[in-house]
Amino acid sequence: MMSCGHWDISLITCFFFMVSGVVALSDELPQPENLHLSWNSDRSVILQWSRPAGLDANCQVNYQIELYLEKCPPSGEPERKWRTIGLNHTWDIYTNEICFKILTIPSMCPNKTPSKPLFEGLSQHPDVVKNFTCVYYSRMKMNCTWSLTSESPDLQLFYNSGSGGSQNPCVSYIGSGLIRTGCHLHGEEFLNDSYHFLVNGTHNDAFFQNLFKIEPKQLVKIPPLKLNITTDQKRIYFQSSSPDFQPVCWVYHFYYTKCDEGEKSISGMDSRQSLEYDESCSYRGRVKAIYSSYCGKGESDISEPVYYGVNRDPNWTLKVALITPVIVSCCLIVALVLFRRHKDSIFPEIPAPPLLLKDVLNSNKDKVLEMGKLYVPYEDVVEKISLEPESTFHRCES
Ligand SMILES: *[C@@H]1O[C@H](CO)[C@@H](O)[C@H](O)[C@H]1NC(C)=O
Ligand SMILES: *[C@@H]1O[C@H](CO)[C@@H](O)[C@H](O)[C@H]1NC(C)=O
Ligand SMILES: *[C@@H]1O[C@H](CO)[C@@H](O)[C@H](O)[C@H]1NC(C)=O
Repeated sequence: MMSCGHWDISLITCFFFMVSGVVALSDELPQPENLHLSWNSDRSVILQWSRPAGLDANCQVNYQIELYLEKCPPSGEPERKWRTIGLNHTWDIYTNEICFKILTIPSMCPNKTPSKPLFEGLSQHPDVVKNFTCVYYSRMKMNCTWSLTSESPDLQLFYNSGSGGSQNPCVSYIGSGLIRTGCHLHGEEFLNDSYHFLVNGTHNDAFFQNLFKIEPKQLVKIPPLKLNITTDQKRIYFQSSSPDFQPVCWVYHFYYTKCDEGEKSISGMDSRQSLEYDESCSYRGRVKAIYSSYCGKGESDISEPVYYGVNRDPNWTLKVALITPVIVSCCLIVALVLFRRHKDSIFPEIPAPPLLLKDVLNSNKDKVLEMGKLYVPYEDVVEKISLEPESTFHRCES
């Protein structure tokens, strides 16, 4: 850096010379030639190329290939990468859109740097089947659905596990009439990492084939679970039903409100969780299970809310203990006063029982004991009343 004396201008000049020096020194390798991508079979493609012309015979190179599941030029990360010294590469494909990137890499070629990349893509036109997705919703049950850009009366779906194996045809299609828009897959655990789907048929008298790759364990979605709330006076227990799925894969989240407080949650691997119980509170609970990230990705729908208990004043037991005797005493006093005041109407004087009883017996003898005989009424003894002159009345009064 001695020659670079003056700071501002010289540094830039120095830098410029260093950079251009590197560019001049590095001898970038030429790109592969005659690149060609074509179908090899129903499901595989072959990428072919030739060695770049004008390479020194002593220069040994290999080729780096990257696969992208999108249109060229790619913007995301590559799905796979390979290195080869050969001049072709075949690959099973499982998506409608692929793009290969290839570049020449020096392996024993002094002072050479990798070439600029080349891109070559393949699209499976026409895209008759779109938005292909699956829901793994129960042990051994998965539904895959799609939308159609146009009708295909003879559409068929085949699938196999990503690790190879035979092509399984779809047995029960979802859809209305001749229009198939899904497949209900059942009868096996979908535990393999990935599954490849092929949908083919004819469309406007032309053959089409669309390919898809699905990872069932990343697409778990189960129906809502059932929640029970119980207490033993000390603790309140939230018990969830178990999903019809790998049991070790779930984390249970219980969302609850207590009295008028905001919603809180408690979670764990155990389908039963508990809290300290406050019997003066009403509780509302819901449960949602999340498929643990060790197993994949997914969740249940959230359950219907379940209610337990009623809101009460927290000191209600104390208050009941204090107020009850007071109310009872007041009631007793009022009752006593009322009783004394209305004693006569509550317990009216009862006529002397012997007389009454005798009457009853007499009248019974009349009607029952002497039945058949002529009825002779008892003569009522009536005190004879006689009118007396006014003078007598006055006398009585005085
Ligand atoms: C899956 O498809 C079957 C058959 O059509 C249907 O009964 C079931 O409800 C579907 N389940 C889900 C979660 O889509
Ligand atoms: C669809 O693909 C399957 C399996 O590869 C094949 O047997 C069938 O002939 C294809 N259907 C059409 C209409 O080409
Ligand atoms: C909830 O309680 C009902 C009735 O006691 C019982 O039948 C059911 O199995 C319980 N469910 C759970 C998830 O514990």
